[in-house]
Amino acid sequence: MMKFQGSHILSVSQFDRDAIARILDVSAQMVPYASRQKRCHVLDGAILNNLFFEPSTRTRVSFGTAFNLLGGFVRETVGEENSSLSKGESLFDTAQVISGYSDVIAMRHPKMHSVAEFAEGSSVPVINGGDGANEHPTQALLDLFTIQSEMSRFGKGLDNLDIVLMGDLKHGRTVHSLSKLLSLYKNVKVTMVSPTALQMPDSVVSTLTDAGHQVVITDQLAGNIACDVIYQTRIQQERFASRDEADLYRGHFSLNKQVYQQYCKENTVIMHPLPRDSRPEANELDTDLNDLANLAIFRQAQNGVLVRMALFALTLGVTP
Ligand code: CP
Repeated sequence: MMKFQGSHILSVSQFDRDAIARILDVSAQMVPYASRQKRCHVLDGAILNNLFFEPSTRTRVSFGTAFNLLGGFVRETVGEENSSLSKGESLFDTAQVISGYSDVIAMRHPKMHSVAEFAEGSSVPVINGGDGANEHPTQALLDLFTIQSEMSRFGKGLDNLDIVLMGDLKHGRTVHSLSKLLSLYKNVKVTMVSPTALQMPDSVVSTLTDAGHQVVITDQLAGNIACDVIYQTRIQQERFASRDEADLYRGHFSLNKQVYQQYCKENTVIMHPLPRDSRPEANELDTDLNDLANLAIFRQAQNGVLVRMALFALTLGVTP
C-alpha cells in the first residue's frame, strides 16, 4: 500500500487501485465533518499555504475550506505578480522558504511540471492543484469519487464504465488525469469527442489502450454519446496563442437539452470540471440542462471538499 504520510501528490500516476480506494473511502468518511454535523480539530494550529499562480475558484477555495474544516489555518498567495517569483526567484528557493512556514502546500502554476519542480525544494507535502496542460490530480480523484457516487444510483461502479470525454482534450488537464485513473479499472470504454486539432495526447490514449481498454476517437458527437457518463470540458482559451484561435473551436460540441434527449441514454450522467463558459458565444454546456437530475456538475464541485479533506488527512497522518 502506498505510504501517504509525508508524500507529495503530484500526478495520478503515483496511485494504484488500492491507494485510490483508500482515498475514496476516507473522502466518504469526511461527509459529517464537511456538513458540520460533527466538528473536527485534528489539524488545530496547522498551516496550509495555497499558492495559486493561475486563476481558480473551486480548487483554491475548496482546498482552503477542506483545511479549515479539519481545524487548520490557510494563507494564500494569488497571482505571480504578488510573489517574489516575479522578481526572478526560483521555484526551488520559493519552496525552501514557504515550506518553512507551512505544514502542507497546495499549488497551481501555468507551466507543465512546475509543481514537481517546486516540490523538490519543499520540506513539507506539496499537492498539485494543476500544472499547465499537464495534470490536475485532485480534480481527477474528485471526478472518480463523483462517478462512483453517481453510478451507485444505477447499481454500477467504476468497472465496466462507458464514458465520453468531450471538448478540448488536448489542453484539458482534468481529462488527462482522469483517463490515467480510469485505466486502472476493468473493461472501460472511453469515447473521445473533440475537434481533430484538439485530440487527446497520444501518451494519454496509450495509457488506456495499453491496459486493454476500448478507446474511440472521433470528431462526431451524433451517435457517439449514448453512455453512462458524459464529461464535457471547456475550450482552454488560456492555452491558445490568441482568443481568435480558441474561437475557431467554440460551439463544436455544444451539449444542451435537445442534444441530450436525442443522443444520450435516459440516465446518462453529465459531468464537467467547471468553470463552464456561460457566455452565449461559448455554446458549451447549456444552462437549459440545469433542471436535469442527471446534471452532476455542482455535486461534483462539492465533492472536491471531501476529497481534499481526505488528502490532507492522509498526507499529514491524521484521522478525524
Ligand atoms: N475545476 C477547476 O479546477 O476549477 P477552478 O479552475 O475554478 O479551480
